[in-house]
Amino acid sequence: MVLALVGGALLAALITTAYTAVGTIPGLPDPPALVRFGLPAARVVLDLAALATVGMSLLPKLIGFDRPKQTEPIMALARRATVITALLWMLAALVSLVLQAAELSPERSATLELLVDYVANVPAGPGLLASAGAGLACAVLGLLAIRFGESVPAELRTIVALLGLLPIPLTGHATDWRYHDFSMISMELHVIGAAMWTGGLAAVALFVAPRRGLLVEALPRFSKLATTAFIVVGASGLFNGLMTLAITPNVGLLGLFTTGYGQIIVAKVICLVALGAVASQMRFRLLPRIARHQRTALLGWAAAEVAVMGVAYGLGVVLSRAPVVI
Ligand code: HEM
Repeated sequence: MVLALVGGALLAALITTAYTAVGTIPGLPDPPALVRFGLPAARVVLDLAALATVGMSLLPKLIGFDRPKQTEPIMALARRATVITALLWMLAALVSLVLQAAELSPERSATLELLVDYVANVPAGPGLLASAGAGLACAVLGLLAIRFGESVPAELRTIVALLGLLPIPLTGHATDWRYHDFSMISMELHVIGAAMWTGGLAAVALFVAPRRGLLVEALPRFSKLATTAFIVVGASGLFNGLMTLAITPNVGLLGLFTTGYGQIIVAKVICLVALGAVASQMRFRLLPRIARHQRTALLGWAAAEVAVMGVAYGLGVVLSRAPVVI
């Protein structure tokens, strides 16, 4: 499961970076390969660690609280894993910060002064710092949850993790637009929907799937969340992608096929269609069988779905840094 997600995302991000000019800035010398490919890799790790933190924080809401004997061992495991993913999130945000500063100033060495300049002058700098802070806050909440259990409410842990997703899109593409308020809200919904959907599925598959009794409870709850996420992620992604193309001079909607940016959007639409097909197989064929306590190939289908989500994440990382006219 973890391999499918990480492998799908890293492969998609690195291959797309290699086939487009993303990571090279016109007028500046090309950054070293470590920066050009290290940066999308670090951003993938950041996104995946954040979605894992969101998914595991959501877990108590999916499995419920009425059977503590069965749920507590799972929750104890998930709380420990959350501290690790949250610290990884923080670390990946800091590494991304160093690499983004190095990308913009290839002639300077990565000193503290360069980082301070970057944070002071480029909006992405404070965005990444805030993201690292959110990772740290989630790790602290996770440690408190290990100590005090569910008296540190799952809602609080989930909300802090979701708020932590907001700073990066706030300081990305969306800020350059004429319709910048709409596009910003839409992008925030996109990343929140994607993290709850992917994180929720990965958490259910890893922690709950082996326990049939709990799965019967958790899967219908997750299925409702997934349906909403499918609509929100699809609508917000299309809105942002198509509007970006439409308002870029000399590009327009035809850019969907004539620019690298547009082709990445098409690839993401294909991912969404594939996700819809796998999700309806789970919803309409597997779920009724699980409700009757019959055996199913749930884990195989979930791994396939998570791998496609990983690819959509990898493409998202490249897209969020890509100029439209690549
Ligand atoms: C119709 C399908 C989709 C379209 C048209 C689409 C479009 C986009 C666009 C335009 C961006 C970049 C926005 C910017 O900063 O300029 C983006 C980023 C992103 N997308 Fe999608 N998307 C789609 C499906 C998905 C799916 C299925 C997922 C995951 C489950 C996903 C996850 C993400 C993430 C996480 C980012 C932000 C990446 C980052 O900044 O690190 N997208 N998407």
